Amino acid sequence: MSPLLAEKDQILDQHAAPPGATMRAAVFVAPGRLEVHDVPRPTAGPGDAIIRITLTTICGTDVHILKGEYPVRSGLVIGHEPVGVIAELGAGVTGYELGDRVLVGAITPCGQCLGCLSGHQSQCGHGMGYEALGGWRFGNTIDGAQAEYLRVPNAQANLAKIPDALTDEQVVLLADIASTGISGAESGRVRPGDAVVVFAQGPIGLCATAGARLMGASLVIGVDGDDTRLAMSKRMGADVVLDHRVVDVVSEVKKLTGGGADVAIEALGTQDTFESCLRCLRPGGVLSSLGVYSGKLAIPYEAFGAGIADYTIVTTLCPGGKERMRRLMELVRHGRLDLTPLLTHRFTLERINEAYDLFANRRDGVLKVVITP
Ligand SMILES: NC(=O)c1ccc[n+]([C@@H]2O[C@H](COP(=O)([O-])OP(=O)(O)OC[C@H]3O[C@@H](n4cnc5c(N)ncnc54)[C@H](O)[C@@H]3O)[C@@H](O)[C@H]2O)c1
Ligand SMILES: [Zn+2]
Ligand SMILES: [Zn+2]
Repeated sequence: MSPLLAEKDQILDQHAAPPGATMRAAVFVAPGRLEVHDVPRPTAGPGDAIIRITLTTICGTDVHILKGEYPVRSGLVIGHEPVGVIAELGAGVTGYELGDRVLVGAITPCGQCLGCLSGHQSQCGHGMGYEALGGWRFGNTIDGAQAEYLRVPNAQANLAKIPDALTDEQVVLLADIASTGISGAESGRVRPGDAVVVFAQGPIGLCATAGARLMGASLVIGVDGDDTRLAMSKRMGADVVLDHRVVDVVSEVKKLTGGGADVAIEALGTQDTFESCLRCLRPGGVLSSLGVYSGKLAIPYEAFGAGIADYTIVTTLCPGGKERMRRLMELVRHGRLDLTPLLTHRFTLERINEAYDLFANRRDGVLKVVITP
């Protein structure tokens, strides 16, 4: 081994967790029960990296997990939106240094399986074929980001260096909600001059609104029934906001667009909003669906031109990987996208249960909370 490599190994050894080291982490115990306690600190195997988390957040999906609506194993560390500093690099990970600040997407594709190599990185088969939702591993099938340290699998494909000019708060929402929301506009193939309606202006829908604007829509209509969120919708790029509690949204969209939207983005996951999206579209329009549905989802024939009105329905799971994160960070760095207005509350990891309570019950105008270990 060259003296240089030996020296590097020594540095790595110094940073690897000493045997028996522990860390604080938010652990899912049972539905309704999340506990912050000591768990073993992870170490890097070949191809992995360990990052020391400097900032993370809570996603609506974590709330579903905590309520027991999306099952994960008891004892799992949850959370999937990591910003941190490289603390350990496993064998084979090159081009990074300990101490590099990195953003890691919520979805961590391996970059080598059939799914990844066919362009469906979110449906990653971990080196093999495809696996539905397989790219979503943090806080789902492996330990997640609401902790002091996180093991990042396939680190070479997933560590995105954060430009010095950007703060952790400027990038933390890119890991999931911005990547997802913007992908709603991309998958919907929004073209310059399009009229786009976005159903629901929660964190995901707000980012879809920003995405529609970035893709060149000439008219963006945000729909919600919450005053704070309608106000934020305008701030994120909506030209018009509609309150579904007081207006007939479908006929209003038809009026505003002269017959129907080119693209309707669904960002809630209900029969009602899915169906309204279809009814808002012009013939040949695109329904881009981001919501996570449960139970049955029906398509009434008349909302669908009986199946022959050239509609496209497309679904998207949050795109991840370091190149996706790099592109999103460039949008922020060059002033095209600013998500910091969505960061409404701040908590330490020790107080994460209070953060869940506030976020899940949408109290105090909360949009997103940031968590510092
Ligand atoms: N596709 C993906 O990769 C992905 C990733 C993360 C989350 N999601 C899903 O995206 C959806 C939205 O997530 P979120 O965190 O933004 O949700 P959220 O619960 O924070 O926000 C939902 C919003 O919908 C509004 N709303 C309720 N009823 C409405 C109606 N009839 N019409 C219009 N608006 C209405 C609420 O006022 C609220 O602002 C969820 O289904 C979530 O599971 C998908
Ligand atoms: Zn999420
Ligand atoms: Zn893969």
